[in-house]
Amino acid sequence: MTSADPVAAHYARGGLLARLDAALRADGVDPAHPGIEGLAPYDQFHGRGIEATEELADLMPARAADRVLDLGSGIGGPARYVATRHGCRVTGIDLTPEFGDVARDLTRRLDLQDRVDFVTGDALAMPFPDASFDGAYSMNVSMNIAGKDALYREIHRVLEPGGWLLLSELAQGEGGEVEYPTPWAMSAETSFLSTAQQTRRGLEEAGYEIVRFDSSLSQALDFAARSRALVESGGKPPHRAVMLIHGELAAAAMRNTSRGLNAGRIVPIEVLARRR
Ligand SMILES: C[S@@+](CC[C@H](N)C(=O)[O-])C[C@H]1O[C@@H](n2cnc3c(N)ncnc32)[C@H](O)[C@@H]1O
Repeated sequence: MTSADPVAAHYARGGLLARLDAALRADGVDPAHPGIEGLAPYDQFHGRGIEATEELADLMPARAADRVLDLGSGIGGPARYVATRHGCRVTGIDLTPEFGDVARDLTRRLDLQDRVDFVTGDALAMPFPDASFDGAYSMNVSMNIAGKDALYREIHRVLEPGGWLLLSELAQGEGGEVEYPTPWAMSAETSFLSTAQQTRRGLEEAGYEIVRFDSSLSQALDFAARSRALVESGGKPPHRAVMLIHGELAAAAMRNTSRGLNAGRIVPIEVLARRR
C-alpha cells in the first residue's frame, strides 16, 4: 500500500505483514501466536526497541482505569506493551494506513483487541472529543511533524486537565546537520527535529508543566555497542524493526543514526509533562 502523503509513503512499502510472518517463522516463532516477546524485535519501531518502551512505561503514571493515547502508534508494539503492563485501554493513531492494518491484525493475534485499538489519521487533527484521554505518549514521531506547536495544542485538547504526556523523541543536537536517509525520513524534506530547548519551550507555551526532562544518549550508545557485539559473535541484532520496514534502505538509515548519535547531531530525549 502506498500513500500520497510523503511521510506515510516513506513508511509504507506494501507486503509488511507477509515479511513479518516470514521473519517470525525464521526466528522459530508461530506467527499466529507470537506473544509480546516474539514480536518485540519487530514491532517496536524506535531507538532501542522494547528496552526503551519498558523504560517509558516505568515513567508512566498510568492506572488500569485510564484511557491512554499513543500518537504515531506504528504497528502497535508500544500500545500492546503499555496496555498489558498497566492494564489500561490504549488507542493508537497513525498516519500510515498499512501500519494501522498490521497493528490491528497483530493485536487480534495477541487477543488484546478489547483494550487496544487503532485509528488511521493525523496527530495534528485527531478525531477524538476534547478531554477524552487521561494520558498520552509518543515514541519517535514528532521528527516527522513540522508544526510542533499545533501538535502540542492538539494533544492538550484531547487530554483531561491534569492529564500526563510522555514523549520519547529524537532532538537536534549541536553536532551539525543530520545525514539522510534515516529510519524516519529519506531527506530533510520530511524531517523536522527540534532542539531539546525548543521542545521544552514549545510544551510550556502550549500549556504543559514539565515534570522531568532527560536524555538517554548514554543508553543509546550502550545499546548500539551491545548490538554490534551480538552481530559480531554471529547473533541477530536485538532490534530488527528498521530492517523489516525499510529493507535495503535500513543499513544506510541505521548507519546515519548511529553516526548522528556519536557526533551529537541527534539526541534522544524523554519528557514527562502535565496538562495545566
Ligand atoms: C518511527 S515510527 C514510530 C512508530 C511507533 N511510535 C513505535 O515506536 O513503534 C514513526 C511513526 O509516526 C507516524 N507519523 C508520522 N507523522 C504522523 C502524523 N502527523 N500523525 C500520525 N502519525 C504520524 C508514522 O506513520 C510512523 O508510524
